[in-house]
Amino acid sequence: MNALELLEQSQVMPVMVIQDITTAVDLARALIQGGVRTLEITLRSEHALDAIRLISQEVPDALVGAGTVRTPAQFEAAIEAGAAFCVSPGLTPSLARSAHQFKVPFLPGIATASESMFAADQGFSVQKLFPAEAVGGVGLLKALYGPLPEIVFCPTGGINAANARQYLALPNVKCVGGSWLTPEAAVAERSWDAITALAREACA
Ligand code: 3PG
Repeated sequence: MNALELLEQSQVMPVMVIQDITTAVDLARALIQGGVRTLEITLRSEHALDAIRLISQEVPDALVGAGTVRTPAQFEAAIEAGAAFCVSPGLTPSLARSAHQFKVPFLPGIATASESMFAADQGFSVQKLFPAEAVGGVGLLKALYGPLPEIVFCPTGGINAANARQYLALPNVKCVGGSWLTPEAAVAERSWDAITALAREACA
């Protein structure tokens, strides 16, 4: 699977910060139940790698990847844990080398035309726009489509149920990501039906 095929699996990608490892599998199942297929587990909590391992073993319908991958060591650890793809808030030459080495789909983060061109030059024409709302959101994506029409984006950062549709209507957006699908309180209370409902609404 390449990065474009990855984005075509699901129009929404939950960005998940696993605070309690005992919630990981049920949370993944709740999201899948709502029609989501790709899950990004960010390496921002001590449980992230265990969560990737557990979900990839126990929720076969999920396509689990690692997010907030900032270093080659993190890239390698994510792959060892079973990550099927990696996402980063940015791009460095060493991360580009890891992505080429491990051959899994990789979405580097970009926020400007130059960063997008640099990422494409490194072989990554499917990119994460981050932090989407803060750097210009829908207006920026429309503006980038003129000079860079072949670049496909997954915007994240400030996306929610209210604005996701506007992003998904753009020709250069295939998928949107965000944490709105996994509200901290709902996860802590194990409100799995509420999370399934959020996912279902987002996928509709
Ligand atoms: C990310 O890591 O992609 C973002 O932090 C998600 O942003 P959000 O919390 O605004 O959805």
